[in-house]
Amino acid sequence: MRAMIVYESMFGNTRVIADAIAKGLESVGIVVVVPVPEAGRELLVDADLLVVGGPTHFHGMSRARTRKWAGAIARNPRSDLVLDRDAQGPGVRDWLGSLGQGHTRVAVFDTRRKGPAILWGRASKGIGRTLRRHGFQMVSKPESFFVTVDNHLKRGGKSEPNNGANDSPRELWRTAPQVRTVRDNRQHPRRRDGRSEDSYSR
Ligand SMILES: Cc1cc2nc3c(=O)[nH]c(=O)nc-3n(C[C@H](O)[C@H](O)[C@H](O)COP(=O)(O)O)c2cc1C
Repeated sequence: MRAMIVYESMFGNTRVIADAIAKGLESVGIVVVVPVPEAGRELLVDADLLVVGGPTHFHGMSRARTRKWAGAIARNPRSDLVLDRDAQGPGVRDWLGSLGQGHTRVAVFDTRRKGPAILWGRASKGIGRTLRRHGFQMVSKPESFFVTVDNHLKRGGKSEPNNGANDSPRELWRTAPQVRTVRDNRQHPRRRDGRSEDSYSR
């Protein structure tokens, strides 16, 4: 199985989750992790599973305006946040807008503040809805990983309780029946494209 993980990240949290999900999926096949600006459509051609994640901004996916805002937060001298390498680029919303139709299996996630999604919103909902509208097949419910009010990952961050027992990004989707079916049909040697890897473990 080939999995492609596409992420947007302003302060690095969503990237850390993307890397951890990739670690889990390594046991299933080849995994490529790419930030939105590098996620060319040609990479999608061979993918059996597409995973898309981004930060929640103002209850949904980021926009140019909210990413600018995030940049201003990171540049505040009192902030310990560092803008991710690809933070200046387009976001998931823009990428989805240019994606066109597809039918690859997809799983989606976001990072956001801990609390009821009805209050804080969740980018993954919009990501999933857009992908479905473009013909992609969702293999699971959207997942959320929590950050603190200071925009740092909550260690051991739990996904929504109604999303089942998998609360570790490494375990996420690795054991999902739909993902296993793909793996059984198409075996490949393990490999993973490496970007800097900050381990996220429980
Ligand atoms: C401009 C802005 C708006 C945000 N709005 C929300 C929000 O509506 N709901 C929420 O749960 N978190 C919100 N957050 C927190 C982000 O979800 C958090 O910064 C993000 O998950 C961190 O991921 P990243 O490091 O990959 O950018 C907001 C953050 C910023 C900078």
